[in-house]
Amino acid sequence: TWRMDSFVENTIAEIREKVGDGKVLLALSGGVDSSVLAALLAKAIGKQLTCVFVDHGLLRKNEGDEVESVFGPNGNFDINFIRVNAAERYYAKLKGVEEPERKRKIIGEEFIRVFEEEAKKIGKVDFLAQGTIYPDVVESGLGGESVVIKSHHNVGGLPDYVDFKEIIEPLRLLFKDEVRKAGLELGLPEYLVYRQPFPGPGLGIRIIGEVTAEKVRIVQDADYIYRTELAAAGLEKLPDQYFAALSNMRSVGVMGDERTYDYAVVLRAVETVDFMTAEASEIPFEVLQRVMSRIINEVKGVNRVMYDLTSKPPGTVELE
Ligand code: XMP
Repeated sequence: TWRMDSFVENTIAEIREKVGDGKVLLALSGGVDSSVLAALLAKAIGKQLTCVFVDHGLLRKNEGDEVESVFGPNGNFDINFIRVNAAERYYAKLKGVEEPERKRKIIGEEFIRVFEEEAKKIGKVDFLAQGTIYPDVVESGLGGESVVIKSHHNVGGLPDYVDFKEIIEPLRLLFKDEVRKAGLELGLPEYLVYRQPFPGPGLGIRIIGEVTAEKVRIVQDADYIYRTELAAAGLEKLPDQYFAALSNMRSVGVMGDERTYDYAVVLRAVETVDFMTAEASEIPFEVLQRVMSRIINEVKGVNRVMYDLTSKPPGTVELE
């Protein structure tokens, strides 16, 4: 029978044999797959591994620090960890850009540039590790998709901008639930292993229209409140994915005896099997009300909160 402890053990042995005393480079996003891969490689080859974590300033609240606390110098592993705080660069590139596909492209390209700069500093490596899992292999094998609905920048061809000999993909035969089991086996914290899906372009596509530092702050804080209140109500596992987004709409409200003209936050929560189709979750009304009231009271710049009822199709899970 399939045992996760033997997968971890066997894979560690395979990695050691293949890598020898070579150097391995990994782009760590903080998502489930790349985190489990980092942990696996850390156990197998320790300091021969360098993880580059690009913080694009479009992560959820505290997420960059969480990644650093697990993989950084005071974390659980003895590896080389490089965190690049690139928020200012990304915001500068995104200034004035409103079109969703342009935004995705810019975020994807900037990632390549930042990663390439770091890779140059490290010099030649022997292996580039990728967190490809089985569903990625199957999807990209289908080919011939003629309509790009949204470009997913983290699925694609081989990077040609890093000097390496070979790609290694130790998770390529695992399904998502197996990746999570391996992560637990490797001692990763549950909040990391059970993290919900988060798009590569991050909050950049949860802010409709132009991205600014202020809008990122609003989405981070609103999303944090939403997550906290769902967890407090014991509902954090009900939807398959949930988050706050920022509509680009401002509207008139009243606070005390002042007129306000502020942003509207959109709350989204969906239930889905495969993310190809989805339905809005029936979050209890009193939970939504609590979230609404906390967001408006605690997040400066917001005076309206809306719940998105749209199914996929015709909507998509993300707003851009
Ligand atoms: P959509 O919005 O296309 O989202 O209905 C379906 C699922 O895919 C995630 N998503 C992404 N994941 N890179 C990713 O890794 C991306 O560019 C990207 N865009 C959307 C989304 O969060 C949802 O889980």
